[in-house]
Amino acid sequence: MNRKLILSSGNEHKIKEIKEILKDLNIEIVSKDDLGFKDLDVDEDKDTLEGNAFKKAEELSKLVNGIVIADDTGLFVDALDGAPGVYSARYSGENATYKGNNELLLKNLKDVPMEKRTAYFKTVIAIILEDGLKLKAEGICKGRIGFEAHGTNGFGYDPLFIVEGLGKSFGEMTDEEKNSLSHRANALRNLKNVLGEVLN
Ligand code: IMP
Repeated sequence: MNRKLILSSGNEHKIKEIKEILKDLNIEIVSKDDLGFKDLDVDEDKDTLEGNAFKKAEELSKLVNGIVIADDTGLFVDALDGAPGVYSARYSGENATYKGNNELLLKNLKDVPMEKRTAYFKTVIAIILEDGLKLKAEGICKGRIGFEAHGTNGFGYDPLFIVEGLGKSFGEMTDEEKNSLSHRANALRNLKNVLGEVLN
């Protein structure tokens, strides 16, 4: 049987990143858009990354045949008690933009010195197999929030997030470099292990 891995995301940056990391896994990877569910839009109203990831995976799983994965990511800033966290996408309001979110984050950290600007990205990937069995994979990446944007690569908070031990932001990295060490890369490596067992 030809098994399929179906991604619930419609975000092109993420799809590219996921396909790149899982490319040597022996499974066909398609997105919900490829299967005609571009308009499926699940309200991410849970208060945990895990809650949102499983909600998205469950909704899609009802409509397709295959292994469904859905991820949810948040940026957790220590000096802000973990904000924006699960609300990272809408930090600056209902119609938030990456620019608006980054501006608000910088504003809220205005008086916080570098040593207290520690933060981490966390990705949770919900996995639902064809028979409904649920599994999970997680990954984090530690760093600090800079005082200004550095670089223009990537998306979201990338230009503000300075990776621990490297002294440069995700915005200053090539896709290849980010994909070797990001929170999503770590979660996907974890996913690869989980799927490796499932597919055998
Ligand atoms: P999502 O759950 O992947 O959609 O992520 C929620 C929000 O977190 C996004 O809207 C981005 O603002 C931010 N985000 C997620 N992943 C990344 C990343 O790799 N770099 C920068 N920002 C990210």
